Amino acid sequence: MSLGGVKNDKMKEKISKIREKMKSEAVKSHEALEAFRIAYLGTKGVMKQLFGDLKEVANEEKKEAGQLLNQLRMDLEAVYAEHKEKLEQTEDLGSNLDLSRPAEDVNIGSRHPLSLVRSEIIEIFSRIGYNVSEGPEIEDDWHNFSALNFPPEHPARDMQDTFFIEKGKEEIALRTHTSSVQVRVMENQKPPIRTISPGRVYRNEAISARAHCFFHQIEGLYIDKKVSFADLKQTLLYFAKEVFGEKAQIRLRPSYFPFTEPSAEVDVSCTICNSKGCNVCKYTGWLEILGCGMVDPNVLEASGIDSKVYSGFAFGMGVERIAQLKYKVNDLRLYSENDIRFLKQFTAG
Ligand code: DAH
Repeated sequence: MSLGGVKNDKMKEKISKIREKMKSEAVKSHEALEAFRIAYLGTKGVMKQLFGDLKEVANEEKKEAGQLLNQLRMDLEAVYAEHKEKLEQTEDLGSNLDLSRPAEDVNIGSRHPLSLVRSEIIEIFSRIGYNVSEGPEIEDDWHNFSALNFPPEHPARDMQDTFFIEKGKEEIALRTHTSSVQVRVMENQKPPIRTISPGRVYRNEAISARAHCFFHQIEGLYIDKKVSFADLKQTLLYFAKEVFGEKAQIRLRPSYFPFTEPSAEVDVSCTICNSKGCNVCKYTGWLEILGCGMVDPNVLEASGIDSKVYSGFAFGMGVERIAQLKYKVNDLRLYSENDIRFLKQFTAG
């Protein structure tokens, strides 16, 4: 491969052609690698010949041409080394790879039990036409209390229960229940309304196994013409059977909430002992799961709904409470401590 009397620019052209060629060279075996070395870097190879041609280059251009050749040689050596390393790597893989070795565990995590229960409840109600609505956790007195028919001196407004945002200013607080979302929905939508509102609520209580300063509720609201207490009972029975199994029964005990009239508390038959009596149901065979009632006409009117045309029911339940019964977790603190040993017990669902 003699360049026979070439000038410097001929030499440059030759170099750039070699560069292109060296890049496109496929080196897939040790034989090909050796052939590459011999062709470019061997004693009779391209480099040797080019250096031989150097003596024919004009003296004043020799220096530049020499530098270009040196650079080319270094690049060729680098390409050679790269091919060599690649070949050795694939060889290593081939010889050391143990295809029968068990794979390492992939940690896929799990969903929080409260998220699992919330999703399940949303799913159960969505099957009978309920949508999901949400409201703010920082709430005003109107939505949390006044519109829900709480009298001005009601003890629930007290400092002991409610976290107020600003000291001495009792207008804005952390919501104490998700019933506030009822009001927001009624203010903004026309009946028929069928909605559930999951969310976090706050109460100023000392933290213990049985109480926490924040927890989660799901509120339900159904407003239409001619909604009756029987509709409420059937809806809650359906819900109890879906969550606790076909054998679940419910009973309603008269109760009082400012925003419903009549009001009731709902118990479900103890699924832990099949109502035979155990320490979870305190040997009564029943477990309290939620509060409910027919929406008080005052509440409908406060939210702009004509109580002579429409009626409805509402209910509210604690998500921790349902989770406690489903998973038999009896310390509320576990839900917010984020102890990985606790959380890992729940499947990815
Ligand atoms: N808001 C009540 C609470 O936090 C729960 C409740 C009771 C909600 C009765 C309702 C209801 O919608 O009708 O204890």
